[in-house]
Amino acid sequence: MSAGHARLIAIASGKGGVGKTWFAITLAHALARAGKRILLFDGDLGLANVDIQLGLLPAADLSAVVSGSMRLAEVARPYPPGGFEILPGRSGSGALAALPPVVFERLLAGLNGLGERYDIVLLDLAAGLDRSTRRMAGAVDTLLVLATDEPGSLTDAYAVLKLNAADRGTADARVVVNQAPSRGAGERTYETLVRACRNFLGIEPPLAGVVRRDERVREAIRRQCLLLTRHPASHAGADVEAMLPGLLEPAEHDTSHSSAAGRRLAG
Ligand SMILES: Nc1ncnc2c1ncn2[C@@H]1O[C@H](COP(=O)(O)OP(=O)(O)O)[C@@H](O)[C@H]1O
Ligand SMILES: [Mg+2]
Repeated sequence: MSAGHARLIAIASGKGGVGKTWFAITLAHALARAGKRILLFDGDLGLANVDIQLGLLPAADLSAVVSGSMRLAEVARPYPPGGFEILPGRSGSGALAALPPVVFERLLAGLNGLGERYDIVLLDLAAGLDRSTRRMAGAVDTLLVLATDEPGSLTDAYAVLKLNAADRGTADARVVVNQAPSRGAGERTYETLVRACRNFLGIEPPLAGVVRRDERVREAIRRQCLLLTRHPASHAGADVEAMLPGLLEPAEHDTSHSSAAGRRLAG
């Protein structure tokens, strides 16, 4: 990351429904509370999840950027309850995959040029691995791959890490285990995933953190509230906040030789 560039952090998963959008929103909020200038970009153009989870009705969305009538910085809107800004996706129709490459490149360039306004741009990527999602994941500084202990989620998280390694070698990719029954169980889930990565891909993506399963997440989403505001003492909220120091550290150059967390768990 050079001066004048916002750091781009994308949140990906193979499988949908693992908590990507909720995690992206909560991480945006936690980072904003830590004093960072944050833009949360809803990169899941098919479903516009961020708006729905927060109950927003944006006046303009990414389609204005795609059509060329507005610039990224004009479409971003403040979200005062969270102290961060949101770039709404496009509800209803059209996935990133449908964008012509030239439009897509313009979008990426626009995101890269937001460094004056933001310290970090968080991207909530679509589930799955279509060409544009993959391209988007390949353009960020840090990729956070969300997994749960469900077999389908682990397999899909592995597939994302594999593609990312193929596209970018040892670029900074890290694992977040969400909805873990306990910290220990989450670390075991990570261990299962990283063992497969080590054996079959020769990489060792570090653990960014474990977020415990917490009923208050569902409750906050139902009320379209931010978890850290509605339940300041929840386990899941504390787990997201505990991730910040590690996340804000500069990325290690070579994730194939493991981070401290990776080494500790590799045993
Ligand atoms: N840590 C957690 N504890 C409990 N439930 C969670 C947690 N994270 C996510 N969920 C549940 O998972 C559901 C799906 O989350 P969502 O953010 O929409 O996933 P995705 O964007 O990956 O499809 C949420 O409605 C919420 O009920
Ligand atoms: Mg989502």
